[in-house]
Amino acid sequence: MSSLEELVEQRAGLHGAPVDALAAVASDWQILADLSFSDLLMFARNPEDGTLTVVAQMRPYTAQTIYQEDLVGRTYAADDKPSVTRAFVEGVIIRDGDPDWSTGVPVREEAIPVPYDNEVIAVVTREANLSMVRAPSQLELTYLQAANDLSNMLAEGEFPFPGEEAERGVSPRVGDGLLRLDPSGVVSYATPNAISAYRRLGVIDNVIGNNVANFDLDPEPLLEALADGEPLESEVESRGAVVLRRCLPLTRSHHVLGSLMLVREVSELRRHERLLLYKDATIREIHHRVKNNLQTVASLLRLQSRRLGSDEARAALGESVRRISSIALVHETLSQDSRQHVSFDKVAQRLIDMLAVGLIDPDRPVHMRLVGSAGELPAEVATPLALVLSELLQNAVEHAFPDRGGEVLVTLERRDASLYVEVRDDGVGVPAEWSVAASSNLGLRIASTLVESELGGTLEVEPAGDGPGTRCETLLPLPR
Ligand SMILES: Nc1ncnc2c1ncn2[C@@H]1O[C@H](COP(=O)(O)OP(=O)(O)OP(=O)(O)O)[C@@H](O)[C@H]1O
Ligand SMILES: [Mg+2]
Repeated sequence: MSSLEELVEQRAGLHGAPVDALAAVASDWQILADLSFSDLLMFARNPEDGTLTVVAQMRPYTAQTIYQEDLVGRTYAADDKPSVTRAFVEGVIIRDGDPDWSTGVPVREEAIPVPYDNEVIAVVTREANLSMVRAPSQLELTYLQAANDLSNMLAEGEFPFPGEEAERGVSPRVGDGLLRLDPSGVVSYATPNAISAYRRLGVIDNVIGNNVANFDLDPEPLLEALADGEPLESEVESRGAVVLRRCLPLTRSHHVLGSLMLVREVSELRRHERLLLYKDATIREIHHRVKNNLQTVASLLRLQSRRLGSDEARAALGESVRRISSIALVHETLSQDSRQHVSFDKVAQRLIDMLAVGLIDPDRPVHMRLVGSAGELPAEVATPLALVLSELLQNAVEHAFPDRGGEVLVTLERRDASLYVEVRDDGVGVPAEWSVAASSNLGLRIASTLVESELGGTLEVEPAGDGPGTRCETLLPLPR
């Protein structure tokens, strides 16, 4: 839960929908701060003693902040903030006449009630630093007028817009470019950045004084949104430039006064997104090809082994085929998923199935089971681990049950920042004083080298302890 929700619940006893309404204000009020050149504070009121608590704070991008410190959580007596208290009680916007000097600079405060179901559930203050005020330019006048319109809408419950869908991270801000439209779509003011965004789309007509219908490349949705007093976020693309437009209707008692259109050139952003998608597809394609190539190598070896006279040579090639197929399995999984992560459970199950098909003698049935879960593993862990698991399973099938069938249990378990892998069989077992280092064969040597040097973990192969058989335990640290 965010601090806003927590504070509103604790200090004002609000729950559910009104809290969501306040969260919606706080997620969309940057524009009000920017247009007002003001800091914004949101106050909640304790219904019992009338104390006021700051539950959210927003600083403007367009002016210097008055409050260096974070005020969220600070509580004031009702009398310390008379205009906030009045806005709560009277339910109308309170504009203070005299500046407040308590922060060391003259601050003019305006308190805007936030209504919900005919009740004031919070008050938002606009705190403007008067020492910065000069003779205002047309830009400043346009901003301040729009800010007043938005404040009125907030007090009437018409801002923020319910259900407006916007990509908040990408959404244009005031500084990105702003146009003010009248109810018919004529631009009464446009910031230089807004004009530049249109130039980039190849629009050379006048923007100011012109109707969007004449110069915008896709004006219908804009005009429609304007007529209906609905918000809109849409993109236009031309000559390799992409411009995102966000239209905010300005209304007064449901009567459309016009609209603010924020525009932002997002060509680079969209180009990067497309590039990422393309890169993703390329990486998957490469994994797919690597898998195919490995399978081709495996088939070549298989073909070759059929022509060999010696059983030993044929077995050796068979081993290689199995090892190569285990690697191919990981690449195949990677080729199906755009993230460079593999669900290792799937890989382990496929390895088990692969061995079950090729190697198990029907007279000595060996049942293999997988329990637990390794979750998602990065490719650089999954590939060596698949090889290790393949060696351990192969050994169980090959050595544990010379004259009868049995069970092999594979356990995968996440332990904090590690992964535990156990392969356990109830076969003949390895001798008590047996060690990997002393063994001259290849399989476990490959496995322990991979675990220790590539994965930075440990591998132990030992008699199962409680009962017959062998237990192979691997513990790997996982990258964060
Ligand atoms: N699960 C097991 N049960 C009984 N003995 C095992 C088990 N795992 C390994 N061993 C013993 O350890 C030896 C070494 O295993 P390792 O995998 O290194 O070689 P290998 O299987 O004989 O040959 P390779 O794996 O190179 O084909 C095996 O020959 C076998 O005697
Ligand atoms: Mg082996």
